[in-house]
Amino acid sequence: MKIMKLAIVIAMIAIALFLILPNLSWAANEGAALYQAKCAICHGADLAGKPAAKLPSLVSVDAKQLSDADLADAIANGGKGKRSSHAFANKGLSPDQVQMVVTYIRDAQKK
Ligand code: HEC
Repeated sequence: MKIMKLAIVIAMIAIALFLILPNLSWAANEGAALYQAKCAICHGADLAGKPAAKLPSLVSVDAKQLSDADLADAIANGGKGKRSSHAFANKGLSPDQVQMVVTYIRDAQKK
């Protein structure tokens, strides 16, 4: 009977972890989802861009040299050139969401 109780406790812990873990990584998932929804159409699902069509890669050496602040500014306000196509702050991305996309790009750059 002791073993039975132990098995139930272990099963409950397993279920609890199963429920909690996806919530711990929600920010990373949301960054990926935002990227796929708002950016992948131009910069590619793999972030490699389409250089032949002047769509820059976000995992290039150049992109890696941008600071987090530069990346966030490029996304939220269109960067130094204030490109309206990139003023995602005006298109419904909150500062938190911009940050999530930056984190997603940084993670992808490490791969
Ligand atoms: C309509 C197509 C399009 C979409 C959508 C788009 N981009 Fe871009 N992006 C471009 C083009 C084109 C450039 C290069 C423009 C330039 O150099 O003037 C660029 C440049 C950039 C740069 C480089 C900025 C720099 O200063 O070097 C970053 C970073 C970037 N995009 C991130 C994103 C992110 C993140 C998203 C989604 C939130 C996104 N882009 C959505 C077309 C797009």
